[in-house]
Amino acid sequence: MGGFNVFVWGMVGLVCFFPMLNHFNGGVMAFHKISLHLQHRSAAKVEDDYRTGYHFQPPKHWINDPNAPMFYKGFYHLFYQYNPKGSVWGNIVWAHSVSEDLINWTPLDPAIEPSKPFDQFGCWSGSATILPGEKPVILYTGIIAKEPEPGYQVQNYAIPKDYNDPYLKKWIKPDDNPIIKPTKENVSAFRDPTTAWKLNGQWEITVGSKQDTTGMSYLYRSPDFIKWTLVDHPLHQKEDTGMWECPDFYPVATTGKDGLDTMVVEGDIKHVFKVSLDITRNEYYTIGKYDTKEDKYIPDEGMIDGWAGLRYDWGNFYASKSFYDPAKKRRILWGWSNESSTEHESVKKGWAGIQCIPRSVWLDPSGKQLLQWPVEELETLRDKNVQISNTELKQGDKVQVEGITPAQADVDVVFTLPGLDKAEVYDTNWDKTFPPESIARNICQVKGTTEQGGLGPFGLLTLTSKHFEEYTPVFFRVFNTPDTKHKVLMCSDEMPSTLNKHEYKPSFGGFVDVDLADNKISLRSLIDHSVVESFAAGGKTVITSRVYPTKALDDDNAHLYVFNNGTTTITVEKLDAWSMKKPKMN
Ligand code: FRU
Repeated sequence: MGGFNVFVWGMVGLVCFFPMLNHFNGGVMAFHKISLHLQHRSAAKVEDDYRTGYHFQPPKHWINDPNAPMFYKGFYHLFYQYNPKGSVWGNIVWAHSVSEDLINWTPLDPAIEPSKPFDQFGCWSGSATILPGEKPVILYTGIIAKEPEPGYQVQNYAIPKDYNDPYLKKWIKPDDNPIIKPTKENVSAFRDPTTAWKLNGQWEITVGSKQDTTGMSYLYRSPDFIKWTLVDHPLHQKEDTGMWECPDFYPVATTGKDGLDTMVVEGDIKHVFKVSLDITRNEYYTIGKYDTKEDKYIPDEGMIDGWAGLRYDWGNFYASKSFYDPAKKRRILWGWSNESSTEHESVKKGWAGIQCIPRSVWLDPSGKQLLQWPVEELETLRDKNVQISNTELKQGDKVQVEGITPAQADVDVVFTLPGLDKAEVYDTNWDKTFPPESIARNICQVKGTTEQGGLGPFGLLTLTSKHFEEYTPVFFRVFNTPDTKHKVLMCSDEMPSTLNKHEYKPSFGGFVDVDLADNKISLRSLIDHSVVESFAAGGKTVITSRVYPTKALDDDNAHLYVFNNGTTTITVEKLDAWSMKKPKMN
């Protein structure tokens, strides 16, 4: 166990003070960046350096949103937005893969491609509904004209050519499409239809949109899934949130971990409403009630409905979609993790984008947030295991986790704290200085991994180079607040992750709503070459970081540590780390 004095914190000099991270998420503006000159530049070769070992990705080129996930005749289907011709957004088709375990994937031909007047300029995101008699149907957004930008949007449906084919290889786009046309004002802001549910004998769906600056989710009704009428009020709306992409609306049980079919609209349930905000490229969700009389969604008292709301993930995670898995009675959430590197680098490496590991999602017993956990099938990839237990970490200590593949690993650790009285004081000015949606992230950025606190920072140093010039730390800080309740901050800091000065390196952060009554807090990180997906306190707070180390690049050059840089000694009660095998990946 070495002290921090032997620990060269490579990038300390670069940790500077950025008081206001604006709404625009590090300069990423609305909608996908459109680079016409790169859309058809096919990958000359695919570089391996940052390709993931066990995350979902195709052999090459650009991917974005997960579409229409479903379980059908023994197979999980994942469709996704894909550019078959290049490594930036454009030429979008619905690529298609199938799996029996959500981990090993077999690619099939694209399921939906532009070919008809109702989708000739693009087949954008959508969802699947399994109609009675086990008949899947897909609703998706078709682009019928390039103008107005980013395209004139309608909603279409597609059905399997052969319901007996468990792979659902071929899809038919009937000629009575489009089945929903936009209202006059919304021709270019009308997309991403959801899975349908049934109310009073009618099918219902919601579609993302906006009116001026008010984000909005239109409600449509249909007796037969073909003729749809716009309901006179939206399912939900919120001023000053801009265009709502990829809305998701589903029930959760008030107790237990079991998921519910989207069709369940009444009973001992709550509803979740999630949107992806085009302006910030962040998502937020609320928990609330589906008022079936008024046919409206109403967030619960105290829910923050807007920029500063709850997030599935405080890092690089967007355009998510959930589905009910009847095979294991659970709700599964998929999200896209875009590159945070430049387009130039995507073109050079011949690919861009991954899907995060699918997560089970259920309601926290408090009823105030969701919990998320990587699907249990991921554990089948666990290979060699090493453990550390009952090990004290004094200020400045770090312990290397040796004997596994550090660049492709699953790590699960429980820390025990001696008490909370030594925690540093929470500076309430932060609540006034920083925008409400990014207080946690700003504190992570200001304090970094090196500034000592009473309790923390402590956590993991992932993808660490031999001499600590590069490392991606995932860690906690505990604060005392004036009302004597403590606050737990989780950070996943990309600042020191690479020596490449040109990368975008945010310090992601989120608060963890735990009472710490037992003085314990857990952290699980899925480390996979260019992605670190971390789950705090059993899935209360989740952060995904995309990183591009230049030295801590592979299993020979990356290292994994558990560390404490706070003044109070803490204990690693138990740490398990596994090398992760490579599944069959497309
Ligand atoms: C979200 C999104 C969707 C759209 C699709 C286009 O990332 O912008 O709103 O349908 O991507 O690829």
